[in-house]
Amino acid sequence: MEQAPSGHRSPHAELHGQLGKVLRDGGYNESELHRLLGTPPERAIDPDYLPLAARRAAEDGGRLAALAELLLLGREVDTQRAGAALAPLELHGLTEAELIEPSAANVRATVRILPYEGLLLASDSPARGQGSDEVWAPGPSARTLASLTVRRRVRSALDLGTGGGVQALLLARHADAVVASDVSARALAMADLNARLNGIENVELRTGDWFEPVANERFDLVSANLPYVVSPDVSFVHRDNPMERDSLSRTVVSRIGEHLTEGGVGHVLCSWVHGADEEWADVPLEWVSGTGCDALILHYASHDPLEYAASWNRPLQSTDAEAFEAAVDRWLDYYAESGIEKIASGAVILRRRSAPKTWARAVEVPDAPTGMAGDHVERLFAVQDELARIGSPENLLAETLEPVPGQRLDQRMTFRDGTYVAHAAFMRRNPGVGVVARIDPRALPVITGCDGRRPLGELITRATERLGETRSEVATLCFATARTAYELGMLRRRD
Ligand SMILES: C[S@@+](CC[C@H](N)C(=O)[O-])C[C@H]1O[C@@H](n2cnc3c(N)ncnc32)[C@H](O)[C@@H]1O
Repeated sequence: MEQAPSGHRSPHAELHGQLGKVLRDGGYNESELHRLLGTPPERAIDPDYLPLAARRAAEDGGRLAALAELLLLGREVDTQRAGAALAPLELHGLTEAELIEPSAANVRATVRILPYEGLLLASDSPARGQGSDEVWAPGPSARTLASLTVRRRVRSALDLGTGGGVQALLLARHADAVVASDVSARALAMADLNARLNGIENVELRTGDWFEPVANERFDLVSANLPYVVSPDVSFVHRDNPMERDSLSRTVVSRIGEHLTEGGVGHVLCSWVHGADEEWADVPLEWVSGTGCDALILHYASHDPLEYAASWNRPLQSTDAEAFEAAVDRWLDYYAESGIEKIASGAVILRRRSAPKTWARAVEVPDAPTGMAGDHVERLFAVQDELARIGSPENLLAETLEPVPGQRLDQRMTFRDGTYVAHAAFMRRNPGVGVVARIDPRALPVITGCDGRRPLGELITRATERLGETRSEVATLCFATARTAYELGMLRRRD
């Protein structure tokens, strides 16, 4: 694929747009490909599943199957069959645009096109091995960031380190104008192709190092899926953090506020290091202080060095076992020399607010996010605003709470000594950021009683009326549980 210089359209822009139309008309979307391959497209490209998906496509043999074999599964396809599947586009035009290349009586694609959230997203075909600036298909981190992004209607948005443009193209649906920047010319060429494939016109591509292409500019929304991996390697521009330890994550988190409008929200997917006996929250809390922003810090996990090194080098495990062992050793030596005991991964979400005092809240997140959870993120910010407005948290007792839509409560019971014993229940929401509220069984009647009709204080009084001596203990538990469920965005105040 030819590289489009920053700000310029590829000479094949029209063809890229036509290819998008041909694919959409051919049913090349998440649900049709799922039906064809027996699994969602993002799972079909998992190396473990790929051979099975390829067999399913070959058995089907239809037009969508040919498109999937060529453009999703990275298989060579007979030239005539590929030509029929891509008609009315001509194969020689696609070859000239370097999207496909001949191979004896077959053709193969230079890109992989993955449908995601109604978009068609091209990335480098893994079969070709592009080297250090290879553009990868959106994976779990891209999905996490997309899920956490606030989806309010705005005038301007920025996607830092856009890669193939997944975040920028999603932002383009609810921002009037989007700037997408990257240091890699190859990434920007892919983002340009993806904008054309999807007929999206309001994304401007800029080349440069992090904030340099947007100096002195502010945006209503910013997203940044950093190459945050903490390692001694600089093998992949999209993965490896070229700075020492977690300095890249710290730099972007502490500077993002300078590029937000008042009330604007910046989302940074990042990593930080901490000591084995140190609180995971201390480091990011220090990063966000003095940014002029309220901050929500979501902590998904802290790994020890071996787990971390093995998981990031997993792709090598099946292709080159020796190189895998060598990489893990190299990474472990680096962590030992640098005194790194734990590596945390999470997201820092900042909201710019001119106020004498801003707040920062660090939240443990046991589950992966589900669906598009921007509303949940907005709620987590709104809760802190509401608590500041109502004064003492005890004033919540006078409030009437109700469940937010999409909330789920799971409880397990085990049969023991002739009776069922109730365990704690767990509250989650979907779509949601992945937080979980633990509900002690004694607090359950109060939590399930929060149906938007009676104030919390009244529910607690009723639930504890006949308890005698343990009454105040249970009342305290019920209040703390309801407050947690409210603060985690599972319950909301009814106005
Ligand atoms: C983890 S990828 C994220 C890609 C995409 N935004 C997503 O969510 O999947 C990180 C991106 O940062 C880009 N990048 C690396 N170093 C950069 C730098 N110094 N300035 C700007 N972008 C950079 C890489 O080229 C890559 O596209």
